[in-house]
Amino acid sequence: MKKRYTLATALFAATTIATGYGSFKPAVAQQSETWKPVWTADGQLELPTGYREWVYLGSPLTPNALNGGAAGFPEYHNVYVHPDVYAIYKETKVFPEGTILLKELQLTQEAQEEDGSRLEVSGRGYFPGAYNGIDIAVKDSTRFADSQNWGYFNFGHHAPPYAETASAAPIEACASCHIDNADEDMVFTRFYAILSAD
Ligand code: HEC
Repeated sequence: MKKRYTLATALFAATTIATGYGSFKPAVAQQSETWKPVWTADGQLELPTGYREWVYLGSPLTPNALNGGAAGFPEYHNVYVHPDVYAIYKETKVFPEGTILLKELQLTQEAQEEDGSRLEVSGRGYFPGAYNGIDIAVKDSTRFADSQNWGYFNFGHHAPPYAETASAAPIEACASCHIDNADEDMVFTRFYAILSAD
């Protein structure tokens, strides 16, 4: 009798755990957190892999031709976030510790007009061309307490291959502009409709 009771208890516990797991959004809570940043021994950030398959947030566009021939970030800024971080943000509306926001720069197709635009069958405008660089923001309240918990990294503004690691940029080079102008927790969320969409 005692044995059976023990077995039943064990089964009940197992079922409870299984049910709890099922209703606990495993994509958010149970992942192995492979999305966390990887740091070298001397504190450099390693360039993540597979980012073009992450969730695509949007593409602000600053054509060179509209910025004196040399935009600070030429030209499309394709912004990505890891799917697990996206799921956490959608649930909590907070970027978790370890969030990586990755922006890959992409040039426009060759200009035909002074404003940098060209004519394609769909109309006159700007059309994506070659990849041209990577910038990254990482949320880490220990490493970057002095710049509102975010660190900024430039992996090169040129065609791939990009740098494999990068040191945090000085605050005045990147963070200060985000501190002064960003919408929410240092991020320009107004340009990423998917973050607030249903
Ligand atoms: C003069 C202001 C300014 C400076 C300096 C600046 N940024 Fe930004 N950053 C922006 C703006 C505005 C956006 C969103 C619109 C866009 O991309 O044009 C942005 C977007 C980003 C994003 C996408 C996530 C987000 O916060 O919206 C990353 C990543 C980023 N910047 C990294 C960097 C890095 C790395 C540097 C330094 C090398 C840097 N930024 C310097 C203004 C700035």
